[in-house]
Amino acid sequence: MNQQPFIFAHRGASGTHPENTMAAFRAAADKGAQGIELDVQMTRDGELVVIHDETVNRTTNGSGAIERMTAAEVAALDAGSWFSPSFAGDPVPTLEDVFTWAAGNDLQINVELKTNKVPYHGIEKKVLDVIEHFDMRGRVVLSSFNFDSIKRVIELDPYIAVAGLIWKIRRDALLKAKDLGLTALHVQTSFALSDYGKEAVDSGMLLRLYTINDMREWQRVTASGLPVEAIITDYPERFVTVSSD
Ligand code: G3P
Ligand code: CA
Repeated sequence: MNQQPFIFAHRGASGTHPENTMAAFRAAADKGAQGIELDVQMTRDGELVVIHDETVNRTTNGSGAIERMTAAEVAALDAGSWFSPSFAGDPVPTLEDVFTWAAGNDLQINVELKTNKVPYHGIEKKVLDVIEHFDMRGRVVLSSFNFDSIKRVIELDPYIAVAGLIWKIRRDALLKAKDLGLTALHVQTSFALSDYGKEAVDSGMLLRLYTINDMREWQRVTASGLPVEAIITDYPERFVTVSSD
């Protein structure tokens, strides 16, 4: 029997909807995900916008680096058409847009701080302020590949849930996570099933896996006996168990 994991929809239900749009987040909830993952970047004038890349080129009809665009310029873009004409006109949401919607449900929200390529001075405080404003502290986990960014979050708010993101198999990142006293890591299956996965768990860390889209991959993980707290997937519907009663 397959163990059903706690499911975060990666960039929303991004397998079937344009990533990091309200349509993708609503679909995630409709499909039975218990959480959503989203990416935050910051405009020139300090708006927190939900988009994966440092530029708008791939996922909108515009071009340019977000750090050099204003909030109004980003808001005017179409973030749906690149995926499908049926999503034409869907905008890039702000973090506030997502939280305003999430205030009406009980989803967990994994906010990834995209500070690994652009430093976005002050983004950690701004994100924490939005979380506080919406009274969402208990429903949010902040993650980043940039451990300096996570360190700043901890310094600003020692009690907010944070997680270190690790790309592939990186012992140095695991050591940094231990140094910071992190209690959660978001890792790939290759890391989880390596000796470092067990080392992380033995050190008291929760593991969440990204990006798991294939049930067979999840079965490999469950068969290993490694405790995994959650998965982050583009296709939440593939992992939701339909109750038979
Ligand atoms: O948080 C897991 C995953 O989202 C990290 O990678 O590139 O999809 O943001 P990426
Ligand atoms: Ca992400």
